[in-house]
Parts: sequence; structure tokens; C-alpha cells
Amino acid sequence: MKIVFLSPSAQLGGAEAVLIDLIASIKAAQPGWQLHVILSEDGPLVARATAIGVATTIINFPESLARLGDSALIDNDNNNRFSLLRRTVFATPAASAYVARLKKTLHDLKPDLIHTNGFKMHLLGAIARPRAVPLVWHIHDYLQPRQVMSSLMKLTRGRCAAIIVNSNSVGQDVKQAIGNGLPLQTVHNGINTRVFTPQGERLDLDSLAGLSAAPTGTIRVGLPATLAHWKGHKIFLQALALIDPDLPWRGYIIGDALYQTNGSQTSIAELREEAARLGISERIGLTGFTTQPAAALRSLDIVVHASTQPEPFGLVIVEAMSCGRAVIVSAAGGVEEVIERNINALAYEPGNANQLAERITQLAGDAQLRARLGSAGRLTATRRFDRQRLAAELVPLYRSLVSAHV
Ligand code: GLC
Repeated sequence: MKIVFLSPSAQLGGAEAVLIDLIASIKAAQPGWQLHVILSEDGPLVARATAIGVATTIINFPESLARLGDSALIDNDNNNRFSLLRRTVFATPAASAYVARLKKTLHDLKPDLIHTNGFKMHLLGAIARPRAVPLVWHIHDYLQPRQVMSSLMKLTRGRCAAIIVNSNSVGQDVKQAIGNGLPLQTVHNGINTRVFTPQGERLDLDSLAGLSAAPTGTIRVGLPATLAHWKGHKIFLQALALIDPDLPWRGYIIGDALYQTNGSQTSIAELREEAARLGISERIGLTGFTTQPAAALRSLDIVVHASTQPEPFGLVIVEAMSCGRAVIVSAAGGVEEVIERNINALAYEPGNANQLAERITQLAGDAQLRARLGSAGRLTATRRFDRQRLAAELVPLYRSLVSAHV
């Protein structure tokens, strides 16, 4: 079996981390299979793929495709915009040249199956797929808010053989967005639970963020996320500003703007200003991107998830649980399939800074509760979210699609 994976990003966001774990899981289960990744840019994903022994080919997106993102695809609910988009972006000479190169590369690689891992590649894969090669769309995000993308995927869905979604919640959304016609399977994400462990190296978050060393006994509360607006960094800062200043806490924002798309992300500078406006600058550390997510999570006492929109899955929640950390989640969307309230996580209503502040205060003052949530979380991660499960679920699907296409 030869599978070619198409990724529209080479950064290490959640969807890309899952792609690596998925490939590693398949490689371990099926050492004879040939796996190849085509990426739209150079970036850290290339080294990660190489490290697990997988060949990569970079076919750089033209600028127009690289910059096209959520901001252009959300809130466009009229057909004029849609046809404009098709004409200006997907029908430009640069995009046609891209499709031609992708077609040629796929033709030369001769895959038995193509697996695409992001919206732009779902479309490009559908257009460039060689005849008789089944295409699997692995959908990591909600489709309905992206009206233009929904229309484009509806138009091309006849060229897709099956859809994988990262949660039942995303599955419902995809069915509503593009119809019921295609086989659809939920494959909850998996992580390497031997890397995300409770014990191990920790980062010095204070020095990374340029803060003086925190006094012993400081409770470290962190939000690890890309800087997309909907990840709720401002809610997190507002919640911290509501916490009793006499409690020994520090807040950390771990992550940076990762993707090339326009208008969808905040910046470290903007968050610094917000912290200053709230009068909590000296207690907030902004570390930037880290290549050591497990060590970063282990440095925290409390891990906060603050998405203001329903989270499709929430990989960082499972990573934090696997590191035995106490987690507070903004409970909506796929997150509900991961957590058991008050057993392996505390939950609050998305966007509610007051409730988040209450949960942080409760956990900051209760080491036993933190420990109890942490061990329950570790158990959840190892039992339900180890990456080994990915191959067990995907290999039969790939096999049945390939034999159906012969
Ligand atoms: C996307 C989703 C996130 C999910 C990740 C991996 O980034 O927004 O919720 O955890 O993909 O599936």
C-alpha cells in the first residue's frame, strides 16, 4: 500500500501534530507500507516527517493561495463572492500551475490512496487526484462557518471517497454543510503518551518570557495555543485580571502566530498591550512558540483552554491530561467528547471570564484537586487517546477504500 498525504501547512499546529502521530502509528502497525507527505511550504513539519522516516516533497503554494484563509472564507454568504473567489484565487494562472504540478507529482508517485489534511488540500486534492485513486478528506475544523469553503467542498465532494472527522461534533457539522452522501468516520485524535508524560524535563517559562524568577510556591497558569483570535487569549487575560492579586499566581501564554493566512490571528505585541491595559503585565509571561510542548505543559500547574467558539477537538487538552496536569476547558463542541466534568477536567462556559476566574481560583487553592484531576486525565489519555489507536481505526478504512476502487 502506498499512501500520499497532502498538508497545506508545514507548521506544527494541532492538525499537523495529528498528521505526524497518525503516520507514525500507521508506520508502526504496517512497516511495509510506503508513506509520503506533500507539503505546501518548508517548515518544522518537514523535519518531523523525516525523523519518523517518511519522505516529503514540497510544492510551494503561490502567494495567493498561501494567504487565503479563514478571514476570506468566513462570513461570505453570497454567490457573487463565491464566484469571485473561484475566479480570482482558484482560477489564477498561479493556482492552475500549482494544480498541474500537484497532478504531475501524484502521477509520478503512483499512490494507492490520497489523504488530505486541511481545507485547501481537500480542494486541491480533489482537483488533482489521478483517476481511480481514492481520496480521503481528514477534516479537523467546522465547515459551516466557512460558507465559501462549504460550497467548494460540496462541488468537489463527488471526487472524495470518504471523510474522516476528529470528533462527532465536527461530523454533524460536515454532514449539515455538504450533505449526507459520503461515508464518514469519526477518528478521535491520538497523541504519543510516552512523550506527553507527567514526569520529565520542564521549561523555565519565566526566563523564556523575560520575567524574573517567580518565588517558590507560585501557581503557574498557562494557555498553550496558536494565536488565532478564537483561541480566547483575551478572555484568559481578563480572567487572570479578576483573580485575587494576593494569591501567588503567574499567567503564561505559550504559542505564536503560526499560519500565513490573513487577519485570523492576534500577536504577542497585541496581547502584551492587553495585559498592560488590565494592569497585570508583570505577572504575565509570553513565551512565543516552543518546540517542546510536553516540557512546556509540565511547567504549568494549571492548563487553561479558552476557545471562544466550539473547539473541534482540542488536542492540547489531551496533551495536558497526558502530562497529568489539571485542566480547565471551555466546554463546547468536540471537547465534550474528551472530558468528564469534574473528573478529568473542570469546565466553564466559553467566553465567560468570570467563571474561568472562579475555576482558576478554586484550583490554585486546592493542590489535592489538581492532583486528582491530573491523574484522572493521565488515565483518560493513555486509555482513549494513545496514537496506537489511529492505525487500528485507519488501516481497515484505507484497505476497504482501495479494494473498492480496484
Ligand atoms: C484543528 C482544530 C483543533 C484540533 C486539531 C487537531 O486545529 O481546531 O480543535 O485539536 O485540528 O485535530
